Amino acid sequence: MLKINAPEYVLMTRYIEAHCGIHLEKDKEYLIESRLSDLAAETGCRSFQEFHFKARTDATGRLRDRIIDAMTTNETSWFRDQSVWEYLEATAVPALLEQAGRTGAVRIWSAAAATGQEAYSLMMMLDEGARRRGAPWLLDNIEILATDISTTALAAAMAGRYDAIAINRGLPEEKRRKYFTRQEQSWVFDERLRNRVRFKKFNLQDPFIFPFSFDLILCRYVSIYFSESFKRAMFAKLAAVLKPDGVLLLGATESLREFSDDFAITYYKNAVINTKKIRGLKDPGHGTAKEMGYGYG
Ligand SMILES: C[S@@+](CC[C@H](N)C(=O)[O-])C[C@H]1O[C@@H](n2cnc3c(N)ncnc32)[C@H](O)[C@@H]1O
Repeated sequence: MLKINAPEYVLMTRYIEAHCGIHLEKDKEYLIESRLSDLAAETGCRSFQEFHFKARTDATGRLRDRIIDAMTTNETSWFRDQSVWEYLEATAVPALLEQAGRTGAVRIWSAAAATGQEAYSLMMMLDEGARRRGAPWLLDNIEILATDISTTALAAAMAGRYDAIAINRGLPEEKRRKYFTRQEQSWVFDERLRNRVRFKKFNLQDPFIFPFSFDLILCRYVSIYFSESFKRAMFAKLAAVLKPDGVLLLGATESLREFSDDFAITYYKNAVINTKKIRGLKDPGHGTAKEMGYGYG
């Protein structure tokens, strides 16, 4: 394994933070060594200084993407954190389906989608909810945007193909039978629902420019990797693209309390529900989520 020295560590951590926001404290040398040594060797570099120079001067952006891929942690599972999914099933999903029937447009963002389990878990829940109402067509009015910075995670998400380990992490057997087809050693997610999720590469450091605002954002288990200043900026951008009374869900180990006062914080069992506060005029043309009984679970 290639060893990293102190000045090289400064160069590499700055490069990584500049390109994907991942903030490495002191003493994380092993992380860079273990995740980037092979790539450095593959590109013919004999030191991290050389590797940093190569990355910095790579006009194609391909090496940068591979470094980001190697440094991001794409850990995820189906229906991750039970209370969050209980909240979604009992409160948010019924309200969103109702809204889909009334106003015709519901927008959801899975903002660090990794290999797709979060977006597909939500799709299954929405599909079951719509069918229970005898209105499967409601899904036509719901768009899930799923984004991630990692090219390889996104490719896996789009393929919707999971191996035996991934499929068994949190997915109830009955849902596996209903929504997945076995293909050799893999399980492939229902094509009809898969095509309803729009996957896109997106860096949370970039400006959030969307032609619409969102009813629900899941931005889970990603702020843990970011600096305080990045968290503050990211929560402000998330608030700006949420509808008044829209909900932001974070991972169980994450909190926006110290970084934003744009949200009212409530609880549903162990889940923290961050609801965008209403300031000034409401979103014209839409009923707000609260009017529909959606916010403040
Ligand atoms: C631990 S996974 C979380 C997956 C899922 N949200 C969940 O809760 O199970 C974190 C994801 O954030 C992505 N990520 C890291 N930095 C990012 C950035 N700056 N912009 C967008 N996505 C990023 C990683 O590629 C990774 O797939």
